[in-house]
Amino acid sequence: MNLLKPLKLLLLAATLVLGGCASTNYGDEQYRLRMAIAGKDIIWVPSKLDMVHKMLDAARVTRQDIVYDLGSGDGIIPIEAARKYGVRAVGIEYNPDLVALSQRNAKRAQLEALVSFKRGDIFVEDFSEATVVTLYLGEALNAKLMPRLLAMRPGTRVVSNIFRIESWTPDQVIRSDSGEQAYLWTVPARIEGRWSFAGAPDLPNLSMQVRQKKQFFDAQIFAGGTRIALIEDSKINGSRLSLDFARGSARYQLQGEVQGQRFTGLLNGTVPVTGTLSP
Ligand SMILES: C[S@@+](CC[C@H](N)C(=O)[O-])C[C@H]1O[C@@H](n2cnc3c(N)ncnc32)[C@H](O)[C@@H]1O
Repeated sequence: MNLLKPLKLLLLAATLVLGGCASTNYGDEQYRLRMAIAGKDIIWVPSKLDMVHKMLDAARVTRQDIVYDLGSGDGIIPIEAARKYGVRAVGIEYNPDLVALSQRNAKRAQLEALVSFKRGDIFVEDFSEATVVTLYLGEALNAKLMPRLLAMRPGTRVVSNIFRIESWTPDQVIRSDSGEQAYLWTVPARIEGRWSFAGAPDLPNLSMQVRQKKQFFDAQIFAGGTRIALIEDSKINGSRLSLDFARGSARYQLQGEVQGQRFTGLLNGTVPVTGTLSP
C-alpha cells in the first residue's frame, strides 16, 4: 500500500506537467469528470487521444482482435479502438461512475455493439480472451499483472502508456507527438526445454536445448549427437520461431510456428519439419 501514494503523486504530477487534461473530455451532464478521480489501486488520469491511436497502431490492431483496457477510466481506449479499427473492445474499471459514463460514451458514439464495460477489479476479472491489452496503471501495478500477461496466448500484444513493466524489455518504444512514451510487448510462446525435430534428412536427430528469458532465449542445437550451433539472445516473436545456424559450410534456416508443445515449420523454406518439446 505504501507504494501507492508515490505512484498517485507521480500520475498527478505527470498530468499537471502535460497540461492537465485529455484532448477529449468525455464527461457528461450526469457525471462531470475531474482529474484524479479515485480508482481502487490508482487514480483516474486519461490517456491522450493521439497516444491512444499510436498505441493501437503499434499493436497492429485488426478487426479480428479483442482489445481489453485494464482500468478503462472514461472508456477512451475501447471506444477509440472500436471506432478506428471496428474491433471488439472491453474495458474493466473499478469506479462504477466511470463505468456508467463509459457505457453512455459508447452509446453516444453508436459503438455499443462493439464496446462493453465491466465493473470489476482487474486483479480478479478474467481478461484471457484479449489479444491486445492496454494499460495506463503505473509500474507497480504493471509488475503485479506481469505473470498473468506472460501467461496469455502467445502473440497477444500488451501496450502500456508511460509505464514500463519491470524486468520485461519492451519490443518497441512508442513516442507521441508531444514527446510522451508508451511501450509494446508481444507475449512469447513458452519454448524452454528440449526440442526434438523430425523431417530434416541432412540433420539426423536434430534437437535443441532452450533456455528462455521472456521473449529472448539461448539455444544449443544438436545433430547426430553433436552440438553444431550455439545461439545467444535470440528472440521469439509471439509464436513465430526463426533459427539460423550452420553445420560446417552448410547454412540452415528453420522457421515456423510454436503451438503449445508442437512446432511446425520449414527448413530453408522448403523442407517440412515438425518438433516436439519436452520441458
Ligand atoms: C490512469 S487511469 C487510466 C484510464 C484509461 N485506461 C486511460 O488510459 O485513459 C487508471 C484507471 O484504473 C482504474 N483502476 C484502478 N485500480 C483498479 C482496479 N484494481 N481494477 C479496475 N480498475 C482500476 C482507475 O479507476 C482509473 O480509471
